[in-house]
Amino acid sequence: MIDGKKVIFSGMQATGTLTIGNYLGALKNWIKLENEYECFYCVVDMHSITVRQDPAELRKRARSLLTLYIAAGLNPEKNCIYYQSHVSAHAELSWILGCYTYMGELSRMTQFKDKAAKHSENINAGLFTYPVLMAADILLFQADLVPVGNDQKQHLELTRDIAGRFNSIYGDVFTIPEPYIAKQGARIMSLQEPTKKMSKTDENPNASIYLLDDPDTVIRKFKRAVTDSDNRIIYSDEKPGIKNLIEIYAISTGKGIEEVEKEFDGVGYGDFKMAVGEAVVNLLKPLQERYRELEKDKAYIDGIIKANAEKASYYANKTLRKVQKKVGFPERIR
Ligand code: TRP
Repeated sequence: MIDGKKVIFSGMQATGTLTIGNYLGALKNWIKLENEYECFYCVVDMHSITVRQDPAELRKRARSLLTLYIAAGLNPEKNCIYYQSHVSAHAELSWILGCYTYMGELSRMTQFKDKAAKHSENINAGLFTYPVLMAADILLFQADLVPVGNDQKQHLELTRDIAGRFNSIYGDVFTIPEPYIAKQGARIMSLQEPTKKMSKTDENPNASIYLLDDPDTVIRKFKRAVTDSDNRIIYSDEKPGIKNLIEIYAISTGKGIEEVEKEFDGVGYGDFKMAVGEAVVNLLKPLQERYRELEKDKAYIDGIIKANAEKASYYANKTLRKVQKKVGFPERIR
């Protein structure tokens, strides 16, 4: 708890570019949380180097992601959006927690197994201890709630186990975090394989609409969206492509599903796809304009980065000092 508010913490990788799936499924809902909760959104650049990165690219993408969050509507004075590498407590707590995590637990992590298979030339120790750093991220802020996708549930479960183990030895040090399930987060699917979730790292760029795609690109991708051959605009599990497009159109325009079905009753797929494309162009327009403005205002963004790193460090160090004392590190001489 901070000032009587529950704490929300989430981390995001600066790999790939955010899609309308990230926006409609998560980001847009986070904006509503800023008054009720104390929110921390961390750009996890330290996690990124577990796979090889181009340094200039990584720096650029990290800044772009942070700017995009603000452009999407997260108020950076209420939401602490910051870089993980600017707050050294992450690395320090990660080391300590690593001494309370078993090799066997880490070996069971499915993301480790997947990534080790995919990057067999670089199975480094950081890839293995990745979940420990993630646990440190969350526990440093005594987070009550963590918005995570399915692929991260196992890591959150491990975080809870580590926190519980530490607490059972040293008393109540850490808040045990719970997953935060959004009330009505949309699940946007790939435009090319509509039974698969839209991903920011899909190899096929036509499968995803990126938040910074220009209008022509957006329209072109929707025109190419995979559908079926029956040419009726009906919301049904048997028509995953059309179902996804109806959903995207509905959320982008604020209309209900049935209303959309009625609106496009008797309309062909070509015209419908065009309408969805235009709705998404309109949805993205203000966000992109704001992004372009923010990008130019270097001093403003730099100020946010500095102030938020200080704010995050303050809370993180509070927890870190407590933990250091518990495990028996000598007191600092002032
Ligand atoms: N591992 C998460 C992912 O790949 C990112 C992440 C790092 C995270 N630290 C976190 C998510 C803490 C939630 C909380 O998506």
